[in-house]
Amino acid sequence: MNLPPFRIERYYERYEFTTRYMLSSSDCESRSIGDLLDLEPDARDRMLGLRLGYTESAGAPDLRRAIAAAYDTIDPDEVVVATCAEEAIFLVYHALLGPGDRALVETPCYESALQLARSTGAEVAEWHRAFVQGWAYDLDALGRRLTPGTRLLYVNQPHNPTGTLMGASTFESLIGMVQERGIRLFSDEVYRGLEYAPGDRLPAACDRDRRAVSLGSVSKSYGLPGLRIGWIASHDEALRRRVIDLKHYTTICASAPSEALAALALSHGPELLDRNRELVRANLDLLDGFLARHAATFDWVRPLAGPIGFPRVTGAGDVDALCARLAAAGVLLLPGSVYEEPDHVRLGFGRANLPEALAVLETALAGSASGPAAGG
Ligand SMILES: Cc1ncc(COP(=O)(O)O)c(C=O)c1O
Repeated sequence: MNLPPFRIERYYERYEFTTRYMLSSSDCESRSIGDLLDLEPDARDRMLGLRLGYTESAGAPDLRRAIAAAYDTIDPDEVVVATCAEEAIFLVYHALLGPGDRALVETPCYESALQLARSTGAEVAEWHRAFVQGWAYDLDALGRRLTPGTRLLYVNQPHNPTGTLMGASTFESLIGMVQERGIRLFSDEVYRGLEYAPGDRLPAACDRDRRAVSLGSVSKSYGLPGLRIGWIASHDEALRRRVIDLKHYTTICASAPSEALAALALSHGPELLDRNRELVRANLDLLDGFLARHAATFDWVRPLAGPIGFPRVTGAGDVDALCARLAAAGVLLLPGSVYEEPDHVRLGFGRANLPEALAVLETALAGSASGPAAGG
């Protein structure tokens, strides 16, 4: 298996823990273990009494129950827990793809969606959406890319890094297209629940198509990435079997304390989502003001869901160099080069300290504009 370095993670490895303000993170404000244990009166005692044995490979039953409750048609047995969504992407691709297969991946995307598909030996093509077209979901272009050999289509709604979300009728057409052609839909839904307008929330793919696989995680919308808990939900038993068989070679089962805390959190899922959605919306209002003041530099398609957006940067020189200067000034943006979109930056607005981070960015940009290193 041949995997190139994961550029997003390499970038964060270098800067995330040494830069004062994180203004590009894709996860929402986190909570402490104490905050989670406060959700239920006997949670502390349950946690202290938890035995640290292996758990079921499919995932602890109470966690699978809490996950299934967020879907319309999924039973707990139709959920497989993974040690984070990243592991699940690895498992699903390796369960479904191999040399001679063809997969289509929506891009730009979270890099592992592309690279882990390639690591199976499959031929991987891109359904590329473009900023100049307003990141439009062009289903005609998609149809042309779904050639007869295509086995799997990966899409990500709400989307990393653009924050876009396809409309409900576009989603239904896409479901129709994969069903007609017998293509497996792998639907990355880790930002689901953070739609700014509740009516924009799309159905989970696994609720609309019996072969589709929905990918979820507590990392993003729920703000609990330190738990490292993700999952897949699908009606397809053979696929779930294959995923568990592979998981026996990766982690066997997830961490017992993480599963218990994730089950507790997801039992209060709507409450956690409401808080993060409100935070994201309030931060987005501040960001709107910032982007209006800096319209000559940043131009974006305003996101519809999730804690990230992906503006194009003009007149500020090389975006990688700009991000390095901003990191030195204490505020971390993610250069679009890690997505093969070198004129863009990823902004993250799910954290409570966004007002301070934005103030530092504004000061740094003013310094950058008047300083000798500003570039053209
Ligand atoms: C679209 C997408 N899918 C999956 C993941 C992986 O999430 P996890 O932290 O659960 O591994 C990420 C993380 O950034 C992501 O943006």
